[in-house]
Amino acid sequence: MTNYHYSKENYREPPIADADEDHISLSFPIEGGDFTHAGYGSSEIKRTLKKLAADPKIVRRIAIAAYEAEINVVAHAYKGRISAVISSDAIRVFIEDQGPGIPDIEQAMQPGFSTASPKVREMGFGAGLGLPNIRDNVDFLHIESEVSIGTILQFCILFRNE
Ligand SMILES: Nc1ncnc2c1ncn2[C@@H]1O[C@H](COP(=O)(O)OP(=O)(O)OP(=O)(O)O)[C@@H](O)[C@H]1O
Ligand SMILES: [Mg+2]
Repeated sequence: MTNYHYSKENYREPPIADADEDHISLSFPIEGGDFTHAGYGSSEIKRTLKKLAADPKIVRRIAIAAYEAEINVVAHAYKGRISAVISSDAIRVFIEDQGPGIPDIEQAMQPGFSTASPKVREMGFGAGLGLPNIRDNVDFLHIESEVSIGTILQFCILFRNE
């Protein structure tokens, strides 16, 4: 099992919201190799945030991070799921997959590192910029991966960041 942990200097874990607070939960399956439907979950998350009149700058950061994470499942894994929990203070996104896993996450985080197949490159992916782009857009990122089993990526973006 390999692990990667990142949090912004000023990041403080938002308090676990009270049981009676309204949450919105969304969850979508992701099919490995299916570039036709790739990005559906992240665009639904984006649409929901827009409906909630979230700050457009924050919506953009979430949309980028969720899209890159979703595409990584399509490009590199067999199947997975993207889920999001939106509360008043933050959005938390979980992407889990069954796939080859990431043997060295530090290496995978380096801009330009990619193991994308020729087919994935043909689709216009494989620059090795997805994971660094996710990190640059979130307040908190945790990645856990096990070779031959799969990968779990979690991130959090705060709505107010003083
Ligand atoms: N869910 C995943 N399962 C297995 N390997 C992954 C997964 N996500 C990322 N990786 C590995 O990490 C590498 C870097 O990922 P990253 O998203 O930065 O670049 P990329 O997907 O190769 O290209 P780009 O995102 O720029 O189209 C991938 O090439 C792959 O080796
Ligand atoms: Mg990628």
